[in-house]
Amino acid sequence: MTAHPTTRPSEALTSEALTGKVVIVTGAGSGIGRATARAFSRAGAHVLGVGRRAAALDETAAGHTGMVTLSADLRSPGAPQQVVDAATDRWGALDVLVNNAGATAMMALADTTADGIDELLSLNVVAPSLLASAALPHLLRSKGSIVNVSSTYGHRPLPGAAHYAASKAAVEQLTRSWALELAADGVRVNAVAPGPTESEALTAAGLPDAAVAQIKRDEAARIPLGRRGEPEEVATWIVRLADPATTWLTGQVLAVDGGLQLT
Ligand SMILES: NC(=O)c1ccc[n+]([C@@H]2O[C@H](COP(=O)([O-])OP(=O)(O)OC[C@H]3O[C@@H](n4cnc5c(N)ncnc54)[C@H](OP(=O)(O)O)[C@@H]3O)[C@@H](O)[C@H]2O)c1
Repeated sequence: MTAHPTTRPSEALTSEALTGKVVIVTGAGSGIGRATARAFSRAGAHVLGVGRRAAALDETAAGHTGMVTLSADLRSPGAPQQVVDAATDRWGALDVLVNNAGATAMMALADTTADGIDELLSLNVVAPSLLASAALPHLLRSKGSIVNVSSTYGHRPLPGAAHYAASKAAVEQLTRSWALELAADGVRVNAVAPGPTESEALTAAGLPDAAVAQIKRDEAARIPLGRRGEPEEVATWIVRLADPATTWLTGQVLAVDGGLQLT
């Protein structure tokens, strides 16, 4: 039987466990990714924040001396490897990959096209997969971890946006499957499934302002804690899942949703 390398409780690291660790956060220019990149930086990690808009990334990194940014479209061929190389060339290791970049798209069945599906899955499923694959040799060395970002709709139907829901269901199954695949090597894989959270996502999906405002009101009314989440309230759990001090947790999808999953 293979021995499973673990960190024993006596060796468990404290709240300083992230100091000096190397973390990649995708989608770091706004919303949950921005809050996550800043939270890791405050915890003392070296952070590579990735996204397409250089100005948005600069704003995320302002005042965070441990953060470096890389402007890249994760759907471009070769981009996932370039992202991982940028972190390891600079800091010599990689401890945490946060697959946060993602998009929402309304696409009713009647309007479904191959390009529409491809555009969504290439960002929400293919890019995180290729990033994880490129990161793997480094994570094996560091006994690091991956945190994927799913959604309430990774495990709930979403009429009118079935392929978004399907892409997040894929993220949850990738999380569980990679967790088992990599457990014997000491690499942990978990996910958060945020409920409706303040970010640029609805506007980025191309919805008009009035529709965005209506969706936000409806969502807040359905959430037991009575409001949408703030990005920092999701980021704090991404950091905790990734923290090397979280020694005995893998393959979990944590709903951070104000209780929405209970309804
Ligand atoms: N907010 C919610 O209610 C909610 C709920 C459940 C799950 N989520 C998930 O949470 C994650 C973060 O979303 P968010 O809500 O914080 O939305 P957001 O503000 O729109 O953030 C998404 C980020 O991804 C980046 N991005 C998009 N396409 C990219 C590409 N091709 N290459 C590189 N970066 C790209 C965007 O930056 P650029 O445009 O500059 O590239 C943006 O900063 C997503 O996976 C989303 O599905 C959000």
